[in-house]
Amino acid sequence: MTVKKTVRFFLNGRDEERAIAPETTLLELIREDLELTGTKEGCGEGDCGACTVVLGELVGGSVRYKSVVACLTPAIQIDGKHVITVEGMAQGQELHPIQRAIVDAHATQCGFCTPGIATSLLGLYLTKAAPSGQEVHTALAGNICRCTGYASIRRIPEFISRQPDAPEAMRPAYLDATEDKLRALGDASARDDILIEREGQIFFAPASVDSLRTFVAERKGQPIQFVSGGSDVMIGVKKRRARPPCLVDLTRLASMKEIRDTGDRLTFGAGVTLVDLAEATRASLPILGATIAQMASHQVRTMATAAGNIANASPVADAVVLLMALDATLHLDGPDGARDLKLDELFLGYKRLALTAGEWICAISIDKGRFDAVDFQKASKRQELDISSVNSALALELDNGGKAIRKARLCCGGVGPTTLLMKKTSAFLAGRPFAEATFVEAAEILATEATPMSDVRGSADYRRDVMKNLLVKHFVSLSANAAR
Ligand SMILES: Cc1cc2nc3c(=O)[nH]c(=O)nc-3n(C[C@H](O)[C@H](O)[C@H](O)COP(=O)(O)OP(=O)(O)OC[C@H]3O[C@@H](n4cnc5c(N)ncnc54)[C@H](O)[C@@H]3O)c2cc1C
Ligand code: FES
Ligand code: FES
Repeated sequence: MTVKKTVRFFLNGRDEERAIAPETTLLELIREDLELTGTKEGCGEGDCGACTVVLGELVGGSVRYKSVVACLTPAIQIDGKHVITVEGMAQGQELHPIQRAIVDAHATQCGFCTPGIATSLLGLYLTKAAPSGQEVHTALAGNICRCTGYASIRRIPEFISRQPDAPEAMRPAYLDATEDKLRALGDASARDDILIEREGQIFFAPASVDSLRTFVAERKGQPIQFVSGGSDVMIGVKKRRARPPCLVDLTRLASMKEIRDTGDRLTFGAGVTLVDLAEATRASLPILGATIAQMASHQVRTMATAAGNIANASPVADAVVLLMALDATLHLDGPDGARDLKLDELFLGYKRLALTAGEWICAISIDKGRFDAVDFQKASKRQELDISSVNSALALELDNGGKAIRKARLCCGGVGPTTLLMKKTSAFLAGRPFAEATFVEAAEILATEATPMSDVRGSADYRRDVMKNLLVKHFVSLSANAAR
């Protein structure tokens, strides 16, 4: 496989090829290099949605569209993709149906958030011709408006539906031709590796696992920062001024985007995004989607992965607490070969992992059929787009028609330096009746099992109380589900 030093992509239907510096975000590329300033920078950390753009990507022969936050997307990740910005919506003087609806609904004032709202909706309407109210809510939950008010913004779909030509006009005129070009370009894994070196920094984006293995073996013992969605990595680079000497992007590896469900066992590649994981397990493991729906925003979930959530090692990571309760296994690869590791053995301390230098997560698997009842609970200040103060997941094996607990795995986040498997409380629950009194008693044991710290999201006492309450809430939620 040959190596290339430039990135080829399409921008609003136009062919582009650029040499890009390793740490450049898509937002910097769009605004500074390509001089398209319609896409705005608000927070620069994924929280406001002002920088939302749409990416078109070839998946299994057809082009899929998704909205992403450009401020956290590594620009190099757009190789072989179609970037649609707000400038790509109107055709000449003719506004796009979404833009017309924004005008008609009086859904803009200062206009700063408006491009992001328009592109978030474009990402939605390019995938669903007639989205439901909940789908519109989900698509817009990551877009903050400081002046207009959300009532008029939420009426945009109503004004779209009043336009007779909206369904045909939704797809910009250049989309068909660009889709043909994307198909001609082929799958990322069929293209060259990308290697960009600048000022002592390396950015490598392998097109195959073999290339990745070779690259990592050549740098054995040296620090490598892997990049999946980049939603955590880019915050470190842009906000905390981290300057990793070697970034290795894993998003072009097709094998890491596979999902295998054999009925009892679910295995998903480390490159599967949160949105795709939720979609793939909607019927077979709905708790996963319900948990993912409470993480970040739609634009972040279309980029972010569960592997990134795990390896980021945040003590309040939401996917981690659930996957640990489900006793997930990590499938690893690296300079010393492949191995498996239980997720509950990964965290050695605050942000310290039992991974060797250059070792990466290839896939994650769970024994789907093992547990009879699983629940996730999150306490945060807002319902949308907020990090947990405390989170908790409980997986139960039940006996006696659901009346007795055979085995339990309770995991909590936000009450210690890492997500914790609460062994004492889990052992206490085993063999007891599945009843409120059991959980109330178990909550007192739980209170002795972790020593939370005070920080901006809550005092130690608050966290302990919330942790106890979430345990009882697991019982309430599981009994309500059982009664349905
Ligand atoms: C606005 C916003 C809101 C958020 N809200 C939430 C929330 O509500 N709940 C929550 O839990 N999280 C939240 N997050 C955190 C973040 O989105 C998640 O942690 C996400 O899952 C990270 O995935 P990623 O693929 O983007 O990771 P990346 O940023 O690519 O990587 C994260 C870390 O994992 C490492 N890594 C990535 N892939 C691999 C691999 N295959 N093998 C080994 N190491 C790897 C990277 O080197 C890095 O250290 C939020 C983030 C943002 C920006
Ligand atoms: S600038 Fe706020 S999400 Fe990107
Ligand atoms: S219109 Fe001003 S921020 Fe939304």
